Amino acid sequence: MDFIKQNIDKYKDRYIEELLELLRIPSVSADPKYKEACFATAEAVSHKMKDAGLDNVEIMSTPGFPVVYGEKMIDKNLPTILVYGHYDVQPADPLNLWHSPPFEPIIKDEKIFARGACDDKGQMFMHVKALEIMLENNALPCNVKMIVEGEEEVGSDNLGEFIAKYKEKLACDVVLVSDTSIIANDVPSVTVGLRGLCYMEVEVTGPNRDLHSGVYGGAVPNPINALCEMIAKMKDENDYITIDQFYDDVIELSDNERKAMNEAPFSLDDYKKDLKLADIRGEKGYTTLERTSIRPTIDVNGIWGGYIGEGAKTVLPSKAFAKISMRLVPNQSSEKIAKLFEDYFIKIAPPSVHVSVKAHHGGEPVVTPTDSVAYKAAEKAMETTFGKKPIPQRGGGSIPIVALFEAELNAKTVLMGFGLDSDDIHSPNEHYGIFNFLKGIETIPYFYKYYAEMF
Ligand code: BES
Ligand code: MN
Ligand code: MN
Repeated sequence: MDFIKQNIDKYKDRYIEELLELLRIPSVSADPKYKEACFATAEAVSHKMKDAGLDNVEIMSTPGFPVVYGEKMIDKNLPTILVYGHYDVQPADPLNLWHSPPFEPIIKDEKIFARGACDDKGQMFMHVKALEIMLENNALPCNVKMIVEGEEEVGSDNLGEFIAKYKEKLACDVVLVSDTSIIANDVPSVTVGLRGLCYMEVEVTGPNRDLHSGVYGGAVPNPINALCEMIAKMKDENDYITIDQFYDDVIELSDNERKAMNEAPFSLDDYKKDLKLADIRGEKGYTTLERTSIRPTIDVNGIWGGYIGEGAKTVLPSKAFAKISMRLVPNQSSEKIAKLFEDYFIKIAPPSVHVSVKAHHGGEPVVTPTDSVAYKAAEKAMETTFGKKPIPQRGGGSIPIVALFEAELNAKTVLMGFGLDSDDIHSPNEHYGIFNFLKGIETIPYFYKYYAEMF
């Protein structure tokens, strides 16, 4: 497999330049302002897939942003890998915290800085380049189909129906995704689980209109105060979530499983230092690694109401709002949790306010097998290119479509990502190491090789 390194050495500057082209298109799926850019990115990705040598490349429409499809079918008796990635990115704001504009990628300290550099344009594009290398060298050992969607960051609401509709077209033996992290550049890992997500928005109404806080203050319910009290009631003093029946479906890990997962390298000191935290906090009885992977959480993502402009305005607001999300673990169901949240929120609301609750997107948690051919292929591929056996580790983030690949296509997923938790995805100054980008391109062909050999 010498050709892999030879190609990377020869063409790496072009690979990076091509990635920068994709990063310049602001494909923010959440913001209608960037609708055109999302369509343009799908177009650009389709060109990249064609240039790499994939066949039947098409931009397939959905009720939302399109899915880009491409394939190379070499022999129907060989296994088929379905590669999944997303071309949409998170909003870039707060813009003032970026050291360089989010959609004008720059390279600094061997890292590419841009929104989407790691999540997921950079990681998705590794697959396009790895396929280019395999195809150019006649070294693709099995069939491949690739889909790149444009709505992952807004919950993949249309993709579930899409894969159900195109079941036959997307039929595969395994799904391969690079949209997660490794522990460190010298500590490779394969992600073997993702948390689910239940995202809610609440509105609390006090008086029918904004009031003078002196004339009415003290006698009228303040909806912001009420909302804060209600949020405070969602966890107890041990950071245990107090929503009724919230933990009913949570699968507890055995002591052995917990012991194994806590053997992964982790330094609490470095963790605190990196985040400039004097201390951490979380559910009592669990370690940081456990709190961010095998345990569910609840967090306020945004809260607003009243006066937030310049200076001070004395006002007793009529309304308060919050976006509240819960990360879920097997076997919690996002739909069931949404209902439990709503019931609890209504139950704890003081009678003086009116509340309304709305569910945004959800996603189901997954655990992926470690005894499968595909896992072993990923393990061997990473061992080959990193020189170290990767550690299986459950991730804390969510990729909603993964559970549906299993439900609709009956296919398990391998989460072989190459990012780092410190890449600042979803944050200002998102970046992706050139080492990681090239290491991904180098590792992917080995996955194909070992998967086809062991299948
Ligand atoms: N790539 C991330 C998920 C991720 C990151 C998993 C790092 C594991 C480690 C993905 O793009 C993402 O951000 N997902 C959202 C899902 C949501 C918008 C439905 C998330 O986790 O918040
Ligand atoms: Mn992603
Ligand atoms: Mn993301």
